[in-house]
Amino acid sequence: MRFDVITLFPELFTPFLASGVTRRAYESGLVEVKLWNPRDFADGNYRRVDDRPFGGGPGMVMLAEPLALCLEKILADRSRDGAPVVLFSPIGEKLDHAGVENWSAGSGAVLVCGRYEGLDQRFIDTYIDRQVSLGDFVLSGGEIAAMALLDAVARLQPGVLNDEGSHQLDSFNPALDGLLDCPHYTRPESWRDQGVPQVLMSGNHAHIERWRREQRLALTQQQRPELVQNARTAGQLTAGDEAFLARLAKDIELKA
Ligand SMILES: C[S@@+](CC[C@H](N)C(=O)[O-])C[C@H]1O[C@@H](n2cnc3c(N)ncnc32)[C@H](O)[C@@H]1O
Repeated sequence: MRFDVITLFPELFTPFLASGVTRRAYESGLVEVKLWNPRDFADGNYRRVDDRPFGGGPGMVMLAEPLALCLEKILADRSRDGAPVVLFSPIGEKLDHAGVENWSAGSGAVLVCGRYEGLDQRFIDTYIDRQVSLGDFVLSGGEIAAMALLDAVARLQPGVLNDEGSHQLDSFNPALDGLLDCPHYTRPESWRDQGVPQVLMSGNHAHIERWRREQRLALTQQQRPELVQNARTAGQLTAGDEAFLARLAKDIELKA
């Protein structure tokens, strides 16, 4: 899988690609990441990559030509393999677990990181296949969004996490019916007068699994009830799950 990243700040990626468990994915080439700076494709002594917006207004706009030359070079380097060209943008489709799973099962993409007020629209109209957003807020550039996508994709690759399959126990994973993750505890057993749920110290794996399932259900019902409803619609909730949720609803009603 190969990702080519177009960025005016390739140096931001250096520590990211060399840190944490996902480092293995990048270093081994399992997830190959190539960085390209449109400034290297810009003209003149100043290698200008931006200019003022037509029509006036604040900020600068990224020039289409250095971006186009940079992208053409990448497409040729990839032997025009049909990889999608993705722009990170607040107007894009929001990245979620299903999206990350799709990217992680694919063969990569060209990721374009915007800066300033954004890119000349004519470049977008000519080259961009998809736009992806990290959420309803504005970043200073697409680099953090690109790193978020790369990180989420890398940790899903086989052999990247220390504990094989541990990502399947993470929030949103279909293996956990798309629910949120349960709380976790570690040593010491008593921390600042707070203990650990007794069941976790019991050694009874069936009870521990039931407790974790109920914690996931309770947390998801509280924070993201639509995810519980999705699991219900998909027929993923057992009679035991439903009985637990009914008890939970009753408890909340009594406390209100
Ligand atoms: C300062 S932003 C431009 C914001 C743009 N003028 C707007 O209001 O939609 C500069 C760049 O950061 C990136 N960016 C900002 N917010 C983002 C988000 N929520 N998701 C993904 N990329 C984002 C985009 O690549 C964008 O071109």
